[in-house]
This record gives sequence, C-alpha cells and structure tokens, in this order.
Amino acid sequence: MRATRIDTRMDAVQPPIVPVIGDLIRQVAGTISLGQGVVHYGPPSAALNVAREALANPDTHGYQDGAGLRELIGAIEDKLQRDNAIDVARGTRVIVTAGANMAFVHALLAITALGDEVILPVPFYFNHEMAIQMAGCLPVRVATDERYQLDIDAIRRAISPRTRAIVTVTPNNPTGAVYPEGSLRAISRLCQDRGLYHISDEVYEYFTYGAARHVSPASFDGAEQYTISLFSLSKAYGFAGWRIGYMAFPAPLADAIMKVQDTVLVCPPVISQIAAVAAMGVGPAYCRGQLEALSEIHDIVTAELRSLEPLCTVPPADGAFYCFVRVNTDANPMHLAERLIREHRVAVIPGTAFGLADGCYFRVAYGALQKETVAEGIGRLVNGLRRILVNG
Ligand SMILES: Cc1ncc(COP(=O)(O)O)c(C=O)c1O
Repeated sequence: MRATRIDTRMDAVQPPIVPVIGDLIRQVAGTISLGQGVVHYGPPSAALNVAREALANPDTHGYQDGAGLRELIGAIEDKLQRDNAIDVARGTRVIVTAGANMAFVHALLAITALGDEVILPVPFYFNHEMAIQMAGCLPVRVATDERYQLDIDAIRRAISPRTRAIVTVTPNNPTGAVYPEGSLRAISRLCQDRGLYHISDEVYEYFTYGAARHVSPASFDGAEQYTISLFSLSKAYGFAGWRIGYMAFPAPLADAIMKVQDTVLVCPPVISQIAAVAAMGVGPAYCRGQLEALSEIHDIVTAELRSLEPLCTVPPADGAFYCFVRVNTDANPMHLAERLIREHRVAVIPGTAFGLADGCYFRVAYGALQKETVAEGIGRLVNGLRRILVNG
C-alpha cells in the first residue's frame, strides 16, 4: 500500500542549501568551493591513536551512559571553567550530543511548546530556523544592523507573550561578526528580565582574529539559570565526521533533555567520545596552531573582496571563517551563485538561505582550503563578480 501524501511539518522547512550548491559544483569540473563551512584539517593524531586502540575494548561497542562518558564530561567541565568561565558547580549540567546541531534541537524540544516563538537575529544559521520550524515553533526574524551586529531594541520589541528564547551565534555563521561583551550582556539581561532562555551557539569560540575576543554569556552573574550554551568539536578539532558536540544547560532542564537524548540518540557514539577525550587533552592549542594561517587567509579574503567596493559591501568579519557580502545589485542571489559556478568556477552560498529575502547577499567560507586555493578562488570570485555586475 502506498502512503497517501499529506501535509507535514517539513513542508514549511527550507531544503538544506549545501547539497543544492554541491550538485551544481559537481556539474562544473574544477570549481573551487567557498561554500561549505568546514575546516581543512582533521583530528589530532592523539585522538586517532586512542580510537584505534579502543576498537579492541568490548565496551566501545555497547551502549554507554546517555549523557556521555564520565571521562569526557569531566574534560568538558574543566574546559568550561578554563576557557569559558562557566562554573558548573553553580547549577549547570553538561550533556554530550552528536554535534551542536543536535544539541540545538534537544534544547528547543526541552524548552518549548507547540506555537512558541524563538527570536533569531537575521541573517541566521539556516539549521536553526529549520529546527525551530520542525519543533512546531515560530522563528521570529529580527534584523541586525549594517555590520551584522545585534540590534538590542529591535530584539526587545520582538518579544511577545509566546517568546521562549533568544538565539545568538558568536562568532557568527554566516557573517563572521563577533558580538562584543556589552551586546551579549544586554541580551542576557533581557532574557533574565523577561523570563526567557538565552541559547548561545559558540561552536566558533576559538576562531577570532585581531583584537576580537569571544565571551560566553553563561559566565555572567546569575546567567547560568537561563543560558543554554552549545559547543562543538567539529571545527576546533577537525572532528566534523565524528559528530561530537556538547551543551551546558541549567540543571532543572536535565529531565526534559534526557528524554530527548534517550529517544533520539540513546548515547553519543562511544568511539567518537573516546577520541574526543584525547582531542580535548591536546586542548585549544591544536586549533590555535591553525589560526595563524587562517588569519592570513582572512586578511587576503577581506582585502580582495573590499577591492570590489562600491559594487559590494563587506562589513568586518573578525571571527569564524566566513564573510557575508552585500552585492549592490537587483540580481537574484541564487542566479548569481549559479552563474559564478557555471561561468567562473567558484561557489558561494546565496544569502536567501540565511533568511535575507530582500537584497543580494552571499556567504564566502574560507576554512576548508589552503592559502593558494583560497587566493585562486577569491580571484575567480572577484573577477567573476566584476564581470557579471559591470557587463550584466
Ligand atoms: C553556528 C553553527 N552551529 C552549529 C553547527 C553544527 O555543528 P556540529 O557539526 O557540531 O553539529 C554549525 C556548523 O556549521 C554552525 O555553523
């Protein structure tokens, strides 16, 4: 029997953009992708070595603790104290998930009821909007300013009786903006005053350039009671395929979150957790070792793109490994992205995927490539854009 086609919750959810661009890239041989947000390096060798050894241990192959291996949780708690000034002794719990995307879904399911609203500054990380819709909630889009920084008054005005949470991502995907401590404190106070959760995505915590510094909102006085902080090993430790993230959350949410975890994941992948303990033992020095090269790439990308002004506007992007470019044209951003691939063999992600329906924007990701390839890719992008925008 064939199931009848009915409306489902997925109808409202946009399709993931990365595979769509990936298809186009495959059609044009030699395309350089400035599309996907991944890093070019893999895990530390210490992590790979312990994973190899763990294959011989029968415990690796069975279910383990739902919240995560004790040893990994301990390593995370120490790291939260050391790098984020989050003291778990003040009522914070930690859970390991299969990546920070899963942690976001867990958090939403734990804190919302159907029809609740969640505030998302725009442009947003598309999986956040998708998750809010899948949870039967309403994403409330709030514009950021011309430098993609938070507009606190606009966020305050967007709060309604149905609002349950405000989401911030810093350093930001897709814009590379790093929010200053003052803005994060203002959001945190707003959450405290209005009885909301602050969901703080910090997967790019180590990726800052120049004078920019990352601050964790859960470290503010009293904020541990309503802040849910999301972290990941995907970027910092080149761990994307091992699927390890974690979440620090207020202890009263533990029962709800464990219900989701038990149903969706049962327990995080054991071999990945064993590798994660070793990676965290190597520590953020691993990622910082990559940052020098990334910082040079960041400077090249920014300078090259700025050479396109006034055809394009390139606000400061002092974090993560993204730039979010505004193209001063009426062109449709998806068409522009397609032409850049087909005619100039370089791929970027159109801004519509990040919630910007008006105007022509695109995201440039530069974490996945070596310096020479990025330079070539950016060269193609700058030439391609100039040709398309000047010659039509
Ligand atoms: C802001 C943000 N959050 C979460 C994730 C997902 O991370 P993970 O691989 O840990 O699920 C990404 C990945 O690109 C991201 O950019």
